[in-house]
Amino acid sequence: MLIRRFRPGDSAAIRPSEITSEHAYLNRRKLLQAALAAGVAGLGAGWMSDAGAVTDLKVERNAKYSVSDPPNSYQDITSYNNYYEFGLDKSDPAELSSRFKPSPWTVTVKGEAENTGTFALEDLLKPHTIEERVYRLRCVEAWSMVVPWDGVPLGAVLKQFKPTSKAKYVAFKTVLRPSEMPGQRSGSLDWPYIEGLRIDEAMNPLALLAVGLYGKTLPNQNGAPLRLITPWKYGFKGIKSIVEIRFTEKQPPSTWNISAPHEYGFYANVNPNVDHPRWSQARERKIGAGVFGSRVPTLMFNGYEQEVASLYKGMDLKKYY
Ligand code: MTE
Repeated sequence: MLIRRFRPGDSAAIRPSEITSEHAYLNRRKLLQAALAAGVAGLGAGWMSDAGAVTDLKVERNAKYSVSDPPNSYQDITSYNNYYEFGLDKSDPAELSSRFKPSPWTVTVKGEAENTGTFALEDLLKPHTIEERVYRLRCVEAWSMVVPWDGVPLGAVLKQFKPTSKAKYVAFKTVLRPSEMPGQRSGSLDWPYIEGLRIDEAMNPLALLAVGLYGKTLPNQNGAPLRLITPWKYGFKGIKSIVEIRFTEKQPPSTWNISAPHEYGFYANVNPNVDHPRWSQARERKIGAGVFGSRVPTLMFNGYEQEVASLYKGMDLKKYY
């Protein structure tokens, strides 16, 4: 019997579609901001959404985190992606995630911290401003997008739990709901999906806990209601629909590293000089940039070298890939 293995490197046809023009994007932002100022946007609890429905978020654009390229369209970002709990193909997450219920939501905090327990998502986010940051996303499959994420700095949330001096790493777990997630009814990956960061990586100001994109709550296929964004790492580190955060002394296991250790390392830093065993990482295809000129050289740490290179000083990045 031929068993098809899930791999973040499995490719599917790229759907050509237009990118949002910067003008249209800024116009939309202006309209939203005007609505917010007038107090007419129905924010409710903000990030809470009913199954499958996205709602407007109150966000503040953080201009420090932006890129010169225009963001990809909402359509591209929400219809071409990986979320293996909903299937193998790039279109599956959008097509098969409507039964998933992202609200109400709690996050359980465990391990080496003073404030452990189970917290309602709105309580975790209440003390923070939801920032909009435009980040490059570089997938291990050698394609990339530009995404306006809305979220709170991961470090600020983690500090609420008062990690102890033994907390050297932080581990994340995705929800396990086979009844709502058809991919979890297959044994192709070890469920639930798990990921981890070194604590200093997690505290880096670039690391974001996203609750939305384009000023709206996350749609199910992009990891509602809460997911990780580490823009200097390959996209698979961005664990979705997080229900557990655990502070640990030892390096935690991660789903793709367990599944194929020679292909997917714990660090997963974007590195054009270290190829994936099955393909080069030197260049990337920009989704939505058209047929001509869409392949560009990949930048070290996905262009965030200045912000994160010091985290890996003295480390052999070919060994710690
Ligand atoms: N998280 C979970 N729980 N399950 C997944 O299959 N896929 C990862 C990551 N997070 C995945 C996940 C991979 S391979 C990528 S490239 C990104 O999510 C895609 O995120 P996007 O929706 O922002 O493009």
